[in-house]
Amino acid sequence: MISKLRLNNFRNFKTKLLDFSPEITVIVGPNASGKTNILESIFLLSTGKSFRAHLEEEMVNYDTDISRAKGRTKSDGELTDLEAILTRGLIDIGKSAPEKIARKKLLVNGVAKRLIDFAGNFRVALFGPWDLDLVTESPSLRRKFLDSVLSQVNREYHRSSLSYEKGLRQRNRLLLRIRDEGLSRGQLLFWNRLLVKNGDYIARTRGELIDFINSASSSFQLPISNYQLEYDKSAISEGRLEQYAEEEVAAGTTLVGPHRDDFIFQKLKNSKTQKLESRDLSRFGSRGEQRMSILWLKLAELAFIEEKTGERPTLLLDDIFSELDHKHRDIVKKVSENQQTIITTADPHFIEGFKKVEKIKLGG
Ligand SMILES: Nc1ncnc2c1ncn2[C@@H]1O[C@H](COP(=O)(O)OP(=O)(O)O)[C@@H](O)[C@H]1O
Ligand SMILES: [Mg+2]
Repeated sequence: MISKLRLNNFRNFKTKLLDFSPEITVIVGPNASGKTNILESIFLLSTGKSFRAHLEEEMVNYDTDISRAKGRTKSDGELTDLEAILTRGLIDIGKSAPEKIARKKLLVNGVAKRLIDFAGNFRVALFGPWDLDLVTESPSLRRKFLDSVLSQVNREYHRSSLSYEKGLRQRNRLLLRIRDEGLSRGQLLFWNRLLVKNGDYIARTRGELIDFINSASSSFQLPISNYQLEYDKSAISEGRLEQYAEEEVAAGTTLVGPHRDDFIFQKLKNSKTQKLESRDLSRFGSRGEQRMSILWLKLAELAFIEEKTGERPTLLLDDIFSELDHKHRDIVKKVSENQQTIITTADPHFIEGFKKVEKIKLGG
C-alpha cells in the first residue's frame, strides 16, 4: 500500500503532499482539478509508466523542466521509497545551450533502477472509464491489459515481453530490407529463435492468466460470474514462421506471434453449467452487459494479483461511479473494503454510505 505521496511539478501540481488511508481514500474535486493526474502518478510509481501520456514528458509541468513523484509504500511491513523523475531530455543550466539529461529516472530507496527492477515493487489495479471500451475496442487494448497485469506480478514475463518487442522491431526492419534490398532470409534466423522463445513463454503465461480469470468466478465467489474469456492466440513457432515466410516478406512485417493475440468476452447462460449463451459480447452484448463484464474482469484481476503475490494490490478507481448503475456501484463499494482503495470523484454523493473513508479535497 501507499501511505504518502509527494508531487513536484507533476502535471498541474507545483508541490503537493498527500497522505493515504490504509483503507479508503476519496479524492474529491471539480473537473480538471488534477484527480486523474494523482492516480497517474501513483500508477507511475507502480509500473514506471503512465497509463495515458502519449509521451512521458507530458507529465512534466508546463512551466518547468523536471517533474518528480515520490511515494512511501509498505509491503509485508517493509517500507520502500519509490521515486520517478521525468524531464524533457534537456535542461537549462544557464549556459547558451541547454544540456542533455535522461528523460526518466526511476529510484528505489534513492538508488537508480532499470524499469524491470522498478516495476512491481508496489502493485495497483486501476479501473477508469476508458476500461469500458475494452470489450469492443481494438485488440491492442486487450493485449495491453494482459501485459500490464502480468508484468506486475511476473518479472520473467516483463523481461520476455520487452525482449519480444525489441526483437519484433528488428525482425520487421529486416523483413523490409529482405523485400526491398534483397537481403538473404538467413539473417532472420537469430530473430526467429528469439521471438519463438519469448513468444512461447508470453503465450503460455497469458493463457494461464485467462484460465485463472475463467476459474475465478467459481473459486473466488466473485459477485459477478456469468462471463468468460476466450483466448484467441496467434501461436508462434519455427514451423509457423516457415509457413508464412513468403507472405511476411511481401508484407514486410511479422504475421504471427503474441503481438497479434486477442481475447473475446463471452457471456454464459448459466455459470454453473458453463453453457455459452452468445459467442461474442462485443457483438451481441448490450452496453450494460459489456460494463458488467469489465467489472467482472477487474475483480478477477484483483484476485489474480493476490493469488500470485499473497497481497491485494491497491485499487485505484478513477471516476467510475457515474458509469455504473446502482447494483454495480454497490459491488464496487463492497470490494473497496477489501484492500487499500483510492477513489476519485467529482461528485461526493457517490461515496455516501462508504465506511472508514478519508477525504482529500482538491481546488478548482
Ligand atoms: N504537463 C502539465 N502541466 C500543467 N498542467 C497540466 C499538465 N498536464 C495536464 N495538466 C492540467 O491538468 C488538468 C487535468 O487534470 P486531470 O487530472 O485530468 O483532472 P480531473 O481528473 O480532476 O478532471 C488540466 O487542467 C490540464 O490542463
Ligand atoms: Mg479525471
